[in-house]
Amino acid sequence: MKTIRIFDTTLRDGEQSPGCSMNLQEKLEVARQLEKLGVDVIEAGFAIASPGDFMAVKAIAETVKNATVASLSRALKKDIERSYEALKGAANPCIHTFLATSPIHMQYKLKMTPDEVLAQAEEAVRYAKSLCSDVEFSAEDASRSEPEFLYRVFEAVIKAGATRINVPDTVGYAMPEEFYELIRGIRENVRGIEKVELSVHCHNDLGLAVANTLAAIRAGATQAECTINGIGERAGNASLEEVVMALVTRQDLYGITTNINTRQIYNSSRLVSTITGVSVQPNKAIVGANAFAHEAGIHQHGVLANKKTYEIMTPESIGLPENVIVLGKHSGKHAFSERLKELGYALTDEQISAAFEKFKVLADRKKEVTALDLRALVESDTFEMPSEFIFDTFVINSGN
Ligand code: KIV
Ligand code: ZN
Repeated sequence: MKTIRIFDTTLRDGEQSPGCSMNLQEKLEVARQLEKLGVDVIEAGFAIASPGDFMAVKAIAETVKNATVASLSRALKKDIERSYEALKGAANPCIHTFLATSPIHMQYKLKMTPDEVLAQAEEAVRYAKSLCSDVEFSAEDASRSEPEFLYRVFEAVIKAGATRINVPDTVGYAMPEEFYELIRGIRENVRGIEKVELSVHCHNDLGLAVANTLAAIRAGATQAECTINGIGERAGNASLEEVVMALVTRQDLYGITTNINTRQIYNSSRLVSTITGVSVQPNKAIVGANAFAHEAGIHQHGVLANKKTYEIMTPESIGLPENVIVLGKHSGKHAFSERLKELGYALTDEQISAAFEKFKVLADRKKEVTALDLRALVESDTFEMPSEFIFDTFVINSGN
């Protein structure tokens, strides 16, 4: 069965979404969880964007062992050098460089002719390749670019050494049938395309990011770029959990697997929403609070008779913890910390001790503590931002 690579950009495109910025420790924690989840590539940040981004990419590059670690760079020498500096310590580094190819971006944003864009893309990839063997090139706004021009650019960057070609629907404009045709056209018209990963990166402005990603996979894309909970620029990116569970649930149709350990999906979603403070809408597919809840009497009756009447996938398959008793007031600290590990938390000894004290107080009052109680207990206190400012005084003025 064909395996699709999952390129996770939660820490780069995801972090670009309003209110989703993370500090270095938080990014490291998400990166460790992404490795557990089994993603093939972790895009750790945009190294030149800020010193904080650089440090985060560097720390993730030095920590992650199995996944490839990528850093974004414009098609400029200074960006590529900064990415390389940050990625040097990685077991599997990848320099990701991009340049827009649509008429509107070339004319108004870049103020460059198509030939100039082609030459700059080629030069950037050649330079990145001289530093790193794994190079991804993204044609920004590919879905609004002239297909013939895209074919020329892709062919040139493959010749210059790109190992991954990415086709972004940057503004979420494409329709699934169109995106399917675009990917099919690229497969059929770009010489050398069979030697590289053909990646897609879809935004959700019209709510079609997952549909477009799946259409592209059917047309021959070999890598899907996604984020946990679908966070990302504006309306977000294709949600990793939705793309993966669609492929798993409809394997009969796609005949495709991924390297994702789906049982880590729920933990990953919780971690990202806890750290960013951006909650998941209750009716969100796969990881929303209501995704496996059956409210209507007819549905409840059906599920009790046979779960498959209304459940196309099991809660266990995404690692949703059952709300069963997990600990009581006689449980010791060891059992407590083991249970937290199973729930996906990597806490320091001090954090565990503080949470354990709170657990004892709760266990006294509640007798039986469930996995959901533990999550609430840990998340309410442990993931506070380190204090950087002291709140001294404040003044409120109001009037009408
Ligand atoms: O949406 C986009 O075009 C991007 C590229 C930089 C890959 O995020
Ligand atoms: Zn994007």
